Amino acid sequence: MENIQELLAAKKDQFLEELLELLRIPSVSADPAFKEDVLNCATHVKGRLEALGLPVVEICPTAGYPIVYAETKQRADRPTILVYGHYDVQPPDPLDLWTSPPFEPVIKATELHPEGAIFARGSCDDKGQMYMHVKAMEILNDLGGDYPCNVKFLIEGEEEIGSDNLEIFVRENEERLSCDIILISDTSMIANETPSLTVGLRGMSYVEVEVTGPNRDLHSGVYGGAVDNPINVLAEMITSLKDEDRRINIPGFYDDVLELSDEERAKLADRPFDYEEYCKDLDIAQTRGEAGYSATEQTSIRPTLDVNGMWGGYIGEGAKTVLPSKAYAKISMRLVPNQSSEKITELFQNHFNAIAPPSVKVKVTPHHGGEPAMTPIDSVGFRAASKAMKETFGKEPIPTREGGSIPIVALFAEVLKANTVLMGFGLDSDAIHSPNEHYGVFNYFKGIETIPLFHKYFAELSK
Ligand code: BES
Ligand code: MN
Ligand code: MN
Repeated sequence: MENIQELLAAKKDQFLEELLELLRIPSVSADPAFKEDVLNCATHVKGRLEALGLPVVEICPTAGYPIVYAETKQRADRPTILVYGHYDVQPPDPLDLWTSPPFEPVIKATELHPEGAIFARGSCDDKGQMYMHVKAMEILNDLGGDYPCNVKFLIEGEEEIGSDNLEIFVRENEERLSCDIILISDTSMIANETPSLTVGLRGMSYVEVEVTGPNRDLHSGVYGGAVDNPINVLAEMITSLKDEDRRINIPGFYDDVLELSDEERAKLADRPFDYEEYCKDLDIAQTRGEAGYSATEQTSIRPTLDVNGMWGGYIGEGAKTVLPSKAYAKISMRLVPNQSSEKITELFQNHFNAIAPPSVKVKVTPHHGGEPAMTPIDSVGFRAASKAMKETFGKEPIPTREGGSIPIVALFAEVLKANTVLMGFGLDSDAIHSPNEHYGVFNYFKGIETIPLFHKYFAELSK
């Protein structure tokens, strides 16, 4: 596979233009206003897989957005890679904070991406990273089309809303999806000069809470002082969820948390991390997480509780004196091995009801959840990924644990009984889920260069 770089150089403009085309489709799964676009995006992805000449390319309907599924010709003498990715994206708002429109991709240089980065919603999460796998197959075609591994593509359109329908699909298609390894590019690496492979992801419990005070909005002068204010109450309740060490106060919350040994902690700390740079990038004076843990640990091996949004009362122009009837918040808890999302959601629900003062009523509605996941570093898949990255980056990748969640990974392990390799090429600073999301041109091509080598080494090491 000596000439991958040459092939890539010749196709650079084509590969970039194709990704920009994909990024122009606003496939926002969370907002029904984009329904047609999400469906069009699935059709577009199907078309790109068909262009590779694969014998099986299908749109599989679900109760929600469809799954795009494809297969190479499956040969009994080769191991099988299941490539997972998602074609849906997060909502782009707040729109006014984008320096260019989210669905009109442009390439601009940044400090960390001097060769240019593609600015668009979904560029890094996950269209850019998912599409690397499609283009890697084109490279393998150009190299003669004798694929070292059988490949199955499973590209869903509901990752950003919890993958509920994919879960059903996986359970119903266990045989069809059988594989020797699952390969996903939907995570970050440490830096362009410091490759890494993700070996752990956090899980998630997500709830929405509603606090109701009086049966209607009231004049805050006439009733204020006597009648309890649900926004004040909600703020108090949320504040009480953490102690002065920023440990979560919900009884039983930490019971199942897998504590790492000093040795394991030292190993995870053995990676480049510039705390000053981290704060500077975010314009904060310092971080403020759970006492006794480093920022890297706080964002990977420790669970969290965060308010994602909070509203109620009057938020329009000017001032309106009102004592509101209701207050709301959306709260996420990131979970670590061996916490269970169902159990944590239940603990939250019980605790939140228990701490509500008698002056208000509280309702907790669970949203999607997902289990944490770990992948072994002594597996054939990890070794193949390591070898491939070492060849293209000139450095051995460092195993890292990350704070984000890909709920389907734990389900793959349970149902398909296969390991997952999390070979992501994004950077934490690529602003996924934020305004001005971008993906390095370097990263995009590095991925397309590395993936065919993964196929090669996975086949070799599986023998
Ligand atoms: N690709 C991310 C997850 C991710 C990002 C993992 C960075 C590691 C590093 C994924 O698209 C995502 O955003 N997942 C959601 C899951 C949720 C909707 C259940 C998340 O983490 O918030
Ligand atoms: Mn993603
Ligand atoms: Mn995401």
